[in-house]
Amino acid sequence: MIDVKTKTVAADGAGITEAARILKAGGLAAFPTETVYGLGADATQGEAVAAIFAAKGRPLFNPLIVHVTGLEDARAHVEFSPRAQALAERFWPGPLTLVLPRRKDSPLSLLVSAGLDTVAMRAPSHPAALALLKTAGVPVAGPSANRSGQVTATTAAHVKDGLDGKVDLILDAGGTTLGIEYTVIGFDGDRPLLLRPGAIARDEIEDMIGPLGAPGGMIRSPGQLASHYAPQAALRLNAAAAEPGEALLGFGAVAGAALNLSPRGDLKEAAANLFAMLRDLDKKAQRIAVSPIPASGIGEAINDRLNRAAAPR
Ligand code: TXA
Ligand code: MG
Repeated sequence: MIDVKTKTVAADGAGITEAARILKAGGLAAFPTETVYGLGADATQGEAVAAIFAAKGRPLFNPLIVHVTGLEDARAHVEFSPRAQALAERFWPGPLTLVLPRRKDSPLSLLVSAGLDTVAMRAPSHPAALALLKTAGVPVAGPSANRSGQVTATTAAHVKDGLDGKVDLILDAGGTTLGIEYTVIGFDGDRPLLLRPGAIARDEIEDMIGPLGAPGGMIRSPGQLASHYAPQAALRLNAAAAEPGEALLGFGAVAGAALNLSPRGDLKEAAANLFAMLRDLDKKAQRIAVSPIPASGIGEAINDRLNRAAAPR
């Protein structure tokens, strides 16, 4: 952790070389993925991983996810069942995280797993994230680059808002395209569980491997805490219209919206806009009302984030 202002650099060759050098030296570098910005550290260095928890103000019982270049890299750290391997082959690189049994000989810091015997692995498809992983040559622990419990960062400026002075470097590749976090799949034996709805819709996965179960009480992870992704403003969901004193975050053809997630009612566009628009309205209003969002496709993930953002704190 450093106490000078954080530097933001373009995610070009020079930027990626510098970020890789920082990671290998045990520092923290924020980087873009196709979903949201991540707060990266070398996942094999315990002190670097500990610095992530400190920078985010994240409770130590919440495990981190680890970014790798693909299936071959991931095999050094976790065991793939045939089903898990099929999912990785189909969706990697891309916005799917698999929580799998940790190998005893994995060099990952034990802090990454926060005491669990599993590790959450993913292979991002964002070219800057992939280039960073290849250049650094280490697995990169990378939770979302925001203070714990607060609104997720989808631009380099959002990262700086929350983590200025707490991260050594921010790699800037503009706004992220998907805007909502990775889908997280775990297993109970061979039974797949949807631990967190995300950028890959439930249907796409169920079409391939059948119904996804719901997590039981044993799985502790930040995205499952009741209050998460929370703005300062109070949030009222499924609002037909704004009441006096509220700013309306619209969806579809609604009148009187201060901002609209997708005037044409496109859920992918809404997911991409969600966190940036919540941040914008949070600066202008004490109370935010949100239009109803359909639950189909990626709408499940949008509603999941909104419900947690609106939960009692
Ligand atoms: O899109 C994203 O997912 C971003 C980018 C940067 O990769 N990262 C992100 O990280 O959102 P974070 O730390 O905010 O969320 C991590 C999620 C948790 O909600 C949890 O579901 C899961 O990963 N997780 C990590 N390790 C786990 C484990 N061993 N068992 C169960 N869940 C785990
Ligand atoms: Mg997060």
